[in-house]
Amino acid sequence: MIFRKKKDELILDRNRLPRHIAFIMDGNGRWAKKRGLPRTAGHHEGGKALLKVLKKCNELGIEAITVFAFSTENWSRPKEEVEYLMKLPNQYIKTYLPKIKEANIKMNFIGFLDVLPEEMKENIRLAMQETKNNTGMIFTIALNYGAQDEILYAVKQIAREYHEGNITLEDITKEYFEKKLFTNDLPPIDFMVRTSGELRISNFLLWQIAYSELYFVPKLWPDFNEKELRKALIAYQKRKRRFGGIEGV
Ligand code: FPP
Repeated sequence: MIFRKKKDELILDRNRLPRHIAFIMDGNGRWAKKRGLPRTAGHHEGGKALLKVLKKCNELGIEAITVFAFSTENWSRPKEEVEYLMKLPNQYIKTYLPKIKEANIKMNFIGFLDVLPEEMKENIRLAMQETKNNTGMIFTIALNYGAQDEILYAVKQIAREYHEGNITLEDITKEYFEKKLFTNDLPPIDFMVRTSGELRISNFLLWQIAYSELYFVPKLWPDFNEKELRKALIAYQKRKRRFGGIEGV
């Protein structure tokens, strides 16, 4: 066992880690169902798994992680589950903010936040305020987020600027467009991980993952632990990133 750990330590090259990882934390419901528990118990356990992943990524020196906690499509789930998912960020912040703060992690939120319940907005403000001077990893929670709507929102802002004569067509570059996305001040996403075996992106960060490495793992999110994270990072380091070019040129 010890040998294996040492071998893994050697394989994981701390100088070649992704700067920014996005996680689709899928499989909480199935994890609970397998144990005869309510789906909400799976989300609760998923919260614990997330804290461990966060701490490890921060320790490794990863600059940013972004997680999908509630999508614009999740409103269509049964009323009780939506209600629970709406309380989850509040509980998460209440339970984990002191630990996140202590770990020097900076909290950030993306998505259409204006329409969220007032209590959640209060907690979002609190989490951002309490961690604003932290200098470690940036931990972004996507809430009421959908990539297609994010892109449309950016398009509309630019259309308005053009219509009002503030910019020309030539001003609309990729860089300019990216500034209008919720992720504008975050590093590029190098790596996207989805748990639970589903092979979909589910409308998460569509523009931002144009050249990201994708990793799909059958483990359900509550079972995604440090060992699984290490495996994912080793897989990332085996990839040859060419960004549309040719290796070595
Ligand atoms: C998808 O699993 C997961 C979610 C919709 C919620 C994710 C939330 C957490 C992991 C807890 C941490 C919370 C915050 C606010 C950071 P699913 O319900 O779709 O699972 P299933 O596919 O097995 O049904």
